[in-house]
Amino acid sequence: MHKTPRDIIAKKVAGKKISVVTAYDYSLALLCDRVGVDILLVGDSAGMVVLGYDNTIPVTMTQMQIFTEAVSRARENALVVGDLPFMSYQANVSDAIKNSGKLIKAGADAVKLEGGIEMADTIRAIVDIGIPVMGHIGLQPQTTMLSQGYRVQGKTKESAKKLIESAKALEEAGVFSITLEMVTSEVAKIISESVSVPTIGIGSGKNCDGQVLVIHDMLGMYDKLKPKFVKRYLSLSKEITKAVELYKKDVESGRFPGKENWFSMEKSELDALREEIG
Ligand code: KIV
Repeated sequence: MHKTPRDIIAKKVAGKKISVVTAYDYSLALLCDRVGVDILLVGDSAGMVVLGYDNTIPVTMTQMQIFTEAVSRARENALVVGDLPFMSYQANVSDAIKNSGKLIKAGADAVKLEGGIEMADTIRAIVDIGIPVMGHIGLQPQTTMLSQGYRVQGKTKESAKKLIESAKALEEAGVFSITLEMVTSEVAKIISESVSVPTIGIGSGKNCDGQVLVIHDMLGMYDKLKPKFVKRYLSLSKEITKAVELYKKDVESGRFPGKENWFSMEKSELDALREEIG
């Protein structure tokens, strides 16, 4: 049986940290799930690290459904959270409910959407029909990017108060957890102590109840951006480049494929064929 939102909340109650990674495809999701991470987040960051967009704005519901299907086929243990892409939930509550339903049908156990107090009614409506929701405040890549660019959130008293107010409104609306993206560590600590649901930090310091990283960042597979908060556990770009270079050389020199990589006919069958075709 895989994890549920209730299990995620129980970890906060027990004082245990929650591990979250993004996943978009079957093979990587399988590895992360086997390790036992708590949540596989099918983030719309897929738009950047998998599809090559400059930001997450062009990502569509169809794309998110395909990624969610692939990840949910791989998981046995983790909770799968599907990210609602830009303009799939902002226009009206009906869109938000229908599109949340599409991600659940694609295999997600819960959905995530960006926004603070202004999204509380939408979140409540989704939760009321039985779909668990993860909130996302602080830097909201779908919209903060349009007005401010990448900026740390909660640096002033006023912006800190707004974040705290939003976190409380989201808790009140029924979210089971809240992502805090690029929030100052002091404000992330205050929020984590003020709400009963777990906070999942990305670039928000060590006092969040859990942490999330984009898997391509963590594995060193995405070179375009390297935010300060990313910890690279591997340099896969270098490893992959080396491997593909070796492969190219092997093909060009005839070293690949070797005998162990091909299939052969029985000699008698080959002789018979040669006789027939001349
Ligand atoms: O899309 C995503 O991967 C996210 C995480 C960065 C939290 O929203």
